[in-house]
Amino acid sequence: MHPMLNIAVRAARNAGNVIARAFEQHDKIEIENKGTNDFVTNIDKDAEQVIIDTIRKSYPSHGIVGEECGVLAGEDTDYQWIIDPLDGTTNFVKGIPHFAVSIALKVKGKLDQAVIYDPIRGELFTASRGKGAQLNGFRIRVKQHKELQGAVLATGFPFKHKQHTEAYFNMFKTLFVKTSDMRRAGSAALDLAYVAAGRIDGFFEIGLKPWDTAAGELLIVEAGGLVTDFTGGHNHATSGNIVATSTRLLKEILKDIRPHLGEALSK
Ligand code: IPD
Ligand code: CA
Ligand code: CA
Repeated sequence: MHPMLNIAVRAARNAGNVIARAFEQHDKIEIENKGTNDFVTNIDKDAEQVIIDTIRKSYPSHGIVGEECGVLAGEDTDYQWIIDPLDGTTNFVKGIPHFAVSIALKVKGKLDQAVIYDPIRGELFTASRGKGAQLNGFRIRVKQHKELQGAVLATGFPFKHKQHTEAYFNMFKTLFVKTSDMRRAGSAALDLAYVAAGRIDGFFEIGLKPWDTAAGELLIVEAGGLVTDFTGGHNHATSGNIVATSTRLLKEILKDIRPHLGEALSK
């Protein structure tokens, strides 16, 4: 294993332990509202600190961007870690056991290492640039589904961006009638990891943040899939509008969502 992936795994497991322990003592979780339908708990913050401490111990000069801590600049600008300490906070707060730790490392602006860790199921998804993607050490691949018929897609509702409700549900409807079924499980990181593992055939969501998608993107690319914005371009890290699937299904999905995008989502 690449030494930096090894540290990412250690950090994710350390944070996962904090989260899993707290999940068992649910009444002690302190919840804060940080925006419209956007929660943060003391556990998001504790888990993030554990990740930062683990990375800093081995790589004190690297930069870090975390959902809760923001940008922590490092002396060595070639290395940037991108952290979502707890992806699926709403599930966590509600007692639904489906959430993950997501950690990615960019080297000179390119995704290089990725970990998504589900502390409840003990599932560790990892990828290193050019070396493929794994689940608990076993190689995973994106399902090369040929058409929407028979496919199961995952998605996230735009609950933080309700101005896009109509456009989103028009996209959803067009895809829903063609697919076998849809899932809205509540953790974008796990949705992406599940696409990489071939458990679901594709994923789309509006307005995600870099920490939601960075690790998942490398997993999918290393598992033989594609990640784009809603026009098929590569602006998804900026717009947060993301489609992740196999080459064949990507064309189908983009064709179906295009009529509903409008100017605001055509990026
Ligand atoms: C959220 C989850 C959710 C997605 C949201 C994300 P958080 O992350 O990934 O599935 O629909 O857009 O913000 O806030 O729980 O880290
Ligand atoms: Ca997130
Ligand atoms: Ca989070």
